[in-house]
Amino acid sequence: MTSPSAKASVEKLETYKPNFGKTIKKNLIRLSANESALGTSLEAVRVLNEFSNNLNRYPPQVSEDLINAIADRYSLNKNNIILGNGSDELISIIAQAFLEPEDEAIHTEYGFLQFPQAISITGAKPVVAKDIDFTVSVDNILAKINKKTKIIFLANANNPTGTYIPKKEVFRLYNSIPSNVILVYDAAYSEYINNDLYIDGSELVDKFNNVIMLRTFSKLHGLASLRLGWGYCSEYILNTLMKVRGPFSVNIAAMLAGTAAIQDIKFQEKSFQHNKKWMQWLKNEFRLLRLDFQTSITNFLLVKFPETKNHNATNAEKFLADRGILVRGMKVYGLPNHLRISIGNEKENIVLIRELKSFLENSHEF
Ligand SMILES: Cc1ncc(COP(=O)(O)O)c(C=O)c1O
Repeated sequence: MTSPSAKASVEKLETYKPNFGKTIKKNLIRLSANESALGTSLEAVRVLNEFSNNLNRYPPQVSEDLINAIADRYSLNKNNIILGNGSDELISIIAQAFLEPEDEAIHTEYGFLQFPQAISITGAKPVVAKDIDFTVSVDNILAKINKKTKIIFLANANNPTGTYIPKKEVFRLYNSIPSNVILVYDAAYSEYINNDLYIDGSELVDKFNNVIMLRTFSKLHGLASLRLGWGYCSEYILNTLMKVRGPFSVNIAAMLAGTAAIQDIKFQEKSFQHNKKWMQWLKNEFRLLRLDFQTSITNFLLVKFPETKNHNATNAEKFLADRGILVRGMKVYGLPNHLRISIGNEKENIVLIRELKSFLENSHEF
């Protein structure tokens, strides 16, 4: 008897497995998913608490309120904003809408894992552009472009490295790509960045019709559980993506909470300052522990562990997990000696360093 089988490009994929721990343990310190260290805007929580009516109704296909609030907050054109069920959904539908199986799409060596996943599902070929020193290389991306190239996926700043390429390099990349190639510029961490050399990609979208900027409410805005992301792109691309996107993919709770969160500038500023302060503190502590890390402009650090039998990254991840601290192992990214660690709240950061110290200063059985 024959049984159903998925298409070949899907059959060979691995299911994405986040590190959220095996049990929902009380007081779990979760530093594995680059979530907001300070929870959620109380304005967003208030709106959700007050909302209970009309659960039987489908949400609006598009939330004008949320789109207007995003446009106001970042001085953007509201006609170019598309909402998605997390930016993950937008990454998937961009690939679905623009890639044929004979096409190629480029992603960077240590780029966000969803990129090769979304490309592969369409049957197109994911092409890797090597990083240099854990940083995106524009030259290596350009060297991979050929007639089959349809999309370049670039996370700037990048997850999991935390590094970025400056405006000059972004423009050098843009100016060298053919006009039929789409540049997907994923700026998921841009709300944490205040650096004159950095751009979030919106100015590229305002000038050119082959750039899509992606943003998310899952990081600084603290709404990861509601799944809300947005894109900024030409009206042609927006209308194309809306043909592929599920008609009601963004739920009403995400629309209401997102609108409140994006207007809560005080919470955003507090989260930004918290991140800045504790990023500095953690970097100092890692230096004292003689742990190497990539300079990051995001809300996480990619930390290298010694390649010794006792104090390697695998043992560190296990040691921390046994003590209720979750960090992200990097084997899936081809970085077995690294862990990605998000910045937590004050207490979480202090406990993390205390436990790491104990791990590195002693020998342990594993
Ligand atoms: C670079 C990058 N893009 C997109 C996402 C996904 O965001 P969302 O929660 O909106 O799907 C993440 C989440 O970790 C990310 O690091």
